[in-house]
Amino acid sequence: MRRPIIAGNWKMNKLPSETRGFVESLVKLLSDAHDRDILLMPPFVSLSLVVDACQGSNIKVGAQNIYFEKEGAWTGEVSADMLKNIGAEYSIIGHSERRQYFKETDEMINKKLKRAVSVGLTPIFCLGEREVERKKGIERDVVYQQLTRGLLGVELEKIVIAYEPVWAIGTGKTATPQDAEEMHLFIRESLQKIYNKELAESVRIQYGGSVKPDNIDSLMAQPDIDGALVGGASLNIDSFVRIVRFK
Ligand code: 13P
Repeated sequence: MRRPIIAGNWKMNKLPSETRGFVESLVKLLSDAHDRDILLMPPFVSLSLVVDACQGSNIKVGAQNIYFEKEGAWTGEVSADMLKNIGAEYSIIGHSERRQYFKETDEMINKKLKRAVSVGLTPIFCLGEREVERKKGIERDVVYQQLTRGLLGVELEKIVIAYEPVWAIGTGKTATPQDAEEMHLFIRESLQKIYNKELAESVRIQYGGSVKPDNIDSLMAQPDIDGALVGGASLNIDSFVRIVRFK
């Protein structure tokens, strides 16, 4: 059985000064949710604070990005070792906003995945097609290419995958549970070819893209959807708590 994993990607939201109270409330409200992994991925400047507020709780903390070099003259970047050192356990890698606005390539994402794994940080490897690609009917080709290029030489058992169709991110247009399930199954079948059946069956694949309290239950009811990567709805206590407590 794959353990459900629900992550809140705050993106570039919430000031450090409004973060502690928010996280302390979440810790209290979710203290009995022990049968699932709960992650918070705040901006870098709030990471230490969130790690501290989550100490001793069932909530884990992750970053939204890393740089692939170990250390050195890379002004403005943050290394995987630094994140690990302050108590982060996960990092999102290859989010579509990084691909689109910061020109991250499959090759860079591959290096980041390897770097994260090498220091014991669990990457959440994001992939997904754009709207034009789905309209052209090439969404599987796109996802397959991102998958094979991104995962070159990466140990599958050390990562989580997030399927986030770009057209569903921040738009309110969620993929139907059936469409999402179809792609998750395709990803799992592809992983079986690239790796093997056992690894493909055990890797967790989250869905991301306009996940809300009113669609989480039907998404999580799909056999190949193991969790959610939640953007906007993770910024509000009530909606994030309801999503974590999917039925
Ligand atoms: P929304 O939930 O705001 O659509 O964002 C999804 C996402 O990009 C999570 O990483």
